[in-house]
Amino acid sequence: MSTSTLSLKNINPRDLKLVVKEVPTLPIVYQQLFSKMSNPNVSVPQLAEIVSKDQSLAIKILKLVNSAFYGYKKEITTISRAMVILGFRTVRNAALAISVFDYVSGCTDDNKFPIEEFWKHSLCTASAAKVLGHKVGIKQQEETFVCGLLHDVGKLIMKKYFENDFNEVCSYALDNGVTWSAAEEKLLGVNHSTLAKAVLRSWNFPPNLVEAVQFHHTMSPGASYPDMVALINLSNYLAYQFGMGAPASMVSADCDPAALRELNITIEKTLMHKEEIMAETTAALDILQIIS
Ligand SMILES: [Fe+2]
Ligand SMILES: [Fe+2]
Repeated sequence: MSTSTLSLKNINPRDLKLVVKEVPTLPIVYQQLFSKMSNPNVSVPQLAEIVSKDQSLAIKILKLVNSAFYGYKKEITTISRAMVILGFRTVRNAALAISVFDYVSGCTDDNKFPIEEFWKHSLCTASAAKVLGHKVGIKQQEETFVCGLLHDVGKLIMKKYFENDFNEVCSYALDNGVTWSAAEEKLLGVNHSTLAKAVLRSWNFPPNLVEAVQFHHTMSPGASYPDMVALINLSNYLAYQFGMGAPASMVSADCDPAALRELNITIEKTLMHKEEIMAETTAALDILQIIS
């Protein structure tokens, strides 16, 4: 089946795995890296060796860890040094973000869905997750930013491989003044969160990241990482409130009251951190130049 003929219409979520098999997978270097990284006994030199085999990945990771965003004063010149100084999880998260950026690169810009607005929304969600994650004392601090950054990646996967479905959803939502999810519900059998879950899971991405992406619009009582899920649900909502929607003119999804209860916070309290979140978003915009 050619990817241009793929459609998500009338697909039962149970059958999604079969459709996802038709979508190109991640390059082998990423697959090796993520499967090695899920082994708790793996060593820094082993990981550094895999990354160093792919020059373009190694260069992007080094540029990223040397960016103002990480705020480390001296230049870091090797992957193994980056892992020692910034920590293994930070480098892994950089590699996760880079792999996804690479995968969805080449998505064409259009008036209804400007890609830059999409990434700004993602960076604002990521920054809100980072700032609020600290305030509420979330357990997986290092992962908050990458979970926010990738929460909507299902939209780009849909745009790239299910383009007719994507265009219909985008037009329907804008023309009828409804949320993206409501348009998906009306037109398709599967939404961007479920699609991303199926794809990220097939790539062996970390389970907390998969769950945060899967449930970012609908909290699930069965979630294993309820605080991360709640944080991304809230951060996505805040990005829209701060004028950083995807696209900015799209109607915002509501924040799930269960997310606020889980984090023991109110919307009013989160709005007090707007300035800090927007400053973090501005600093994070650097990332777009580095990894795209
Ligand atoms: Fe979303
Ligand atoms: Fe979003």
